[in-house]
Amino acid sequence: MFTVIKLYNAVFERIYKLYKLLYYTDFFLETFLLSIMSERQLANLTRQFYHHNKKYITEDNIRSGLKDFEKHIFEKYIPASASEIVILAAGGGREIYSLTKMGYKCYGYESTEKFVTVAADFFKKNEIDARIIHFPVNKVPQHSCDVFIFGWGVYTHLSGESLRVKLLEDAKNNLRENGKIIISFWASNEWMEMKKRLMEKYRRIFGGKFECGSCIKTGCWGKYYTQSEIEDEARKAGLKVDYYSDQRYGHAVLSVE
Ligand SMILES: C[S@@+](CC[C@H](N)C(=O)[O-])C[C@H]1O[C@@H](n2cnc3c(N)ncnc32)[C@H](O)[C@@H]1O
Repeated sequence: MFTVIKLYNAVFERIYKLYKLLYYTDFFLETFLLSIMSERQLANLTRQFYHHNKKYITEDNIRSGLKDFEKHIFEKYIPASASEIVILAAGGGREIYSLTKMGYKCYGYESTEKFVTVAADFFKKNEIDARIIHFPVNKVPQHSCDVFIFGWGVYTHLSGESLRVKLLEDAKNNLRENGKIIISFWASNEWMEMKKRLMEKYRRIFGGKFECGSCIKTGCWGKYYTQSEIEDEARKAGLKVDYYSDQRYGHAVLSVE
């Protein structure tokens, strides 16, 4: 038995070493790609990702309703007086479909043209009184409302703190009294924070303008956030964080400071 255990340990020690080597090679290559790709190329990657993505425009997805975190936010943090909602990155209309049924008047904006067309057909067929307007990326429409939603996950795709703060400010300027902003994003974790520290080291040694904590692993560009990053960006935009959670998916409710 002694020999068997020794052999077993020796095999797995080697496998773990190989795994570590793979992890660092993967990290190094991904960071290298991030460091040589321009802002434009990274933005294009995300654009292509959604252009070829059918998930957000299936009837099942549109009808899937609000996610648990969205339900929780609407139950606990949206004032009863709220009636008009603007949704940026409205996709194929998932949030709008549910919120319209809940009695809100919704206005959607979306950059992926195909999503806009599918949503229009779906709303027409199902007699949903809402519309999604085709709108450029990285911009906030001037449209006053009680609740401004950065549609599911879009905060993750906004590259650079100055852009995010500017968009939060623009959204804030749309809000009526007691208005709220809802954002959702990839929440960082221990693993990602370790990767972030490695990226900072990489940047110090090899240079590059990429954001630490960003990745292209899922096929699009996205950034992982910690609670303090979200609070900091909100504060810079003159907003406060009423609620933050990283359970299942990062999300926060912001209001005017
Ligand atoms: C995860 S999908 C969510 C779609 C929809 N809100 C839903 O939950 O089904 C993210 C959306 O963000 C949009 N998007 C990606 N990058 C963007 C950017 N930089 N500015 C505005 N919208 C963007 C995509 O076109 C896509 O519709």
